Amino acid sequence: MSTKTGSTPPAPGAEAVISLRGVHAELGARPVLRGIDLTVRRGEVVALLGANGSGKSTTVRAVIGQVPAGAGEIELFGTPRRRFRDWARVGYVPQRTTAAGGVPATLTEVVASGRLSRTRFGVFRRADHEAVRRALDLVGMADRAKDSVDALSGGQHQRVLIARALAAEPELLILDEPMAGVDLASQEVLARILRQQVDRGTTVLLVLHELGPLEPLIDRAVVLRDGCVTHDGPPPEAVGQHALPGHDHVHPHAPAGAEPIRTGLLS
Ligand SMILES: Nc1ncnc2c1ncn2[C@@H]1O[C@H](COP(=O)(O)OP(=O)(O)O)[C@@H](O)[C@H]1O
Ligand SMILES: [Mg+2]
Repeated sequence: MSTKTGSTPPAPGAEAVISLRGVHAELGARPVLRGIDLTVRRGEVVALLGANGSGKSTTVRAVIGQVPAGAGEIELFGTPRRRFRDWARVGYVPQRTTAAGGVPATLTEVVASGRLSRTRFGVFRRADHEAVRRALDLVGMADRAKDSVDALSGGQHQRVLIARALAAEPELLILDEPMAGVDLASQEVLARILRQQVDRGTTVLLVLHELGPLEPLIDRAVVLRDGCVTHDGPPPEAVGQHALPGHDHVHPHAPAGAEPIRTGLLS
């Protein structure tokens, strides 16, 4: 198993930052989560894996309260989610969709929206403007601050969404498929940013389609299938993939010249 270089692994007894126990959710009268157990401890980097439609996005959306959980318990930083108010401690990067529309915002506006939770009544002070600038700088987009987000490539857009999540300096980062539709250069930038965050102790839950360049950062992988957890442990490795549930076929969508597929779990 790979180890994270330059960071301390979380203590086994560290505080649970995210805790789901027996979580069920229905969407459109269809059971989508069927008893999810998932714990992410302080300082951990956990990858949530599984085929399309297995319930990964629904799980993270249940954590942040965008999907109502029918049964089960969800806690954030030890507080039942329903009573949790400290959202500045949580940075969320939703799964990117290609659908555009509306009035295009500038990069600064988008990133500043991520800082609102740290302001009093939405009033930006100097420290808030500085945090926004710092976040744009971290993702290498400071020189584009005044540009409109619809002029960006997929990878640049993703970097802006991450800057938005970082603007509040969260202790917990939740990212839904941050590498999807992102060019290789931006993938490397994202991997570097995430490593910096992990090194400063940020806890990370990330939905991934394949481990790819983030693999060295990941402490533990949780694999979903049809709304149930089928694996919770070390990240699956290419050689061990046949032993794990969820493996069924070789990934069919690899572009020509792409890296060899590392795992068959995520088709
Ligand atoms: N708003 C919704 N209404 C009805 N069904 C939904 C909705 N959102 C997701 N689903 C269904 O829930 C299942 C899990 O979706 P999702 O959590 O997005 O999976 P993943 O992120 O693993 O691809 C899928 O079958 C999907 O079609
Ligand atoms: Mg999803």
